[in-house]
Amino acid sequence: METPAELADRFDRRAPEYDGSAMHRGLAQAVADFVRLGGVRDVLDVGTGTGLVLRSLPAGPWRLRGVDLSPGMVDVARAALPDAEFAVADATSLDLPDASVDLVTCVTMLHLVPDAPAAMREWRRVLRPGGCLVLATFADDSPSWHGPAPEPGHSPAEAHAPLGSSEALERLAAASGFVVSRIAEWELRSNGGAPEYRCLITEFAPVDDRRA
Ligand SMILES: C[S@@+](CC[C@H](N)C(=O)[O-])C[C@H]1O[C@@H](n2cnc3c(N)ncnc32)[C@H](O)[C@@H]1O
Repeated sequence: METPAELADRFDRRAPEYDGSAMHRGLAQAVADFVRLGGVRDVLDVGTGTGLVLRSLPAGPWRLRGVDLSPGMVDVARAALPDAEFAVADATSLDLPDASVDLVTCVTMLHLVPDAPAAMREWRRVLRPGGCLVLATFADDSPSWHGPAPEPGHSPAEAHAPLGSSEALERLAAASGFVVSRIAEWELRSNGGAPEYRCLITEFAPVDDRRA
């Protein structure tokens, strides 16, 4: 697994053309359409990259924050969304008080984190009562994905496990103090043809705090 310094370096190099990705733009919009914003005051996007998810949200009274390891990605985010607050930092250890955020979003980033349940427990810490985490991950059966190449003799799903099925997401929730409250599927098709990317968008509510 890449170190934080290696990740920052890789995404710094990718930053100038990152917004050209139809997959990332489309998934960010799908996540923005999926989230429930009623009563939300503070949104935190972890592994925000160029801020595509925050940029896709409708205008509203919510305060927008993004955290990312890559200074190059954050430079693009700041230029695109000057009213939001962005920090270059490790999103698995946040410089935020307990119970200070209503919605945490994490889109195609968790597979880059060495200890996913520990990262989710940290995001749970900053959620206010009634808040939730929305996670988007590549489905195990996605024909394409961005992430580690599979080892020889292993399938793409194995390279991307364990975040790409409803069973895996339920296990992840149980390990991090959440319950899965909603899952949606999202696909990108090339020129109306076969699916190129398939992703799962999942809402997690902290245990004992499940939304109706
Ligand atoms: C594939 S990009 C996704 C960016 C954005 N969420 C989107 O949907 O376009 C993954 C991002 O996660 C960031 N990242 C990976 N590990 C991180 C960590 N521990 N803390 C903060 N950012 C991280 C990378 O720097 C990169 O910008």
